[in-house]
Amino acid sequence: MKAWILVGMMGAGKSTVGKRLAEMSQREFIDTDQLIVNRLGKSIDKIFEQYGEQTFRDHETSIIKSLQSGAVVVSTGGGSILRSENLEALRLIGITVYLRVPKEQLIERLKISRKKRPLLQRDDWEDAFGALFDQRAAVYEQCDIIVDIDNASLDESAERLYKELINE
Ligand code: S3P
Repeated sequence: MKAWILVGMMGAGKSTVGKRLAEMSQREFIDTDQLIVNRLGKSIDKIFEQYGEQTFRDHETSIIKSLQSGAVVVSTGGGSILRSENLEALRLIGITVYLRVPKEQLIERLKISRKKRPLLQRDDWEDAFGALFDQRAAVYEQCDIIVDIDNASLDESAERLYKELINE
């Protein structure tokens, strides 16, 4: 059985919508950021602070390569498919889905939740985020499926994903 793999920017809801989707489809939920935290015994911001982004990315790649296909929903970190080897590894085990949320909406959400995100710990975080969004959009669009989330609620978003994925 193919894994369902959620991809997209920070704040897109990969983890929250992913958990709901997993419940709905009776799949196991896996979060690659959480697996890195478990492996190193430290939070994501501490990992960035103590070891740097490169080391975080190396762990991210090795975690991604250890994943297997099956009845799972996988939530990935926002930067994970920027390494093409990661995208290739994910494609081998399942269907990649881009949760596409408009930039302005993501910025609104991140005003509340940016604190735990090391790449957004700066005064000009909105500009930095905007630049990341623009750089990454084309990479995310390489996913097998694109689902537009817009203003959809958590349940609606999970439903939309489910409908797209169930026939794959
Ligand atoms: C990152 C996104 C984060 C986390 C790390 C880097 C990124 O995950 O992996 O802070 O580069 O976009 P979320 O997308 O779950 O916030």
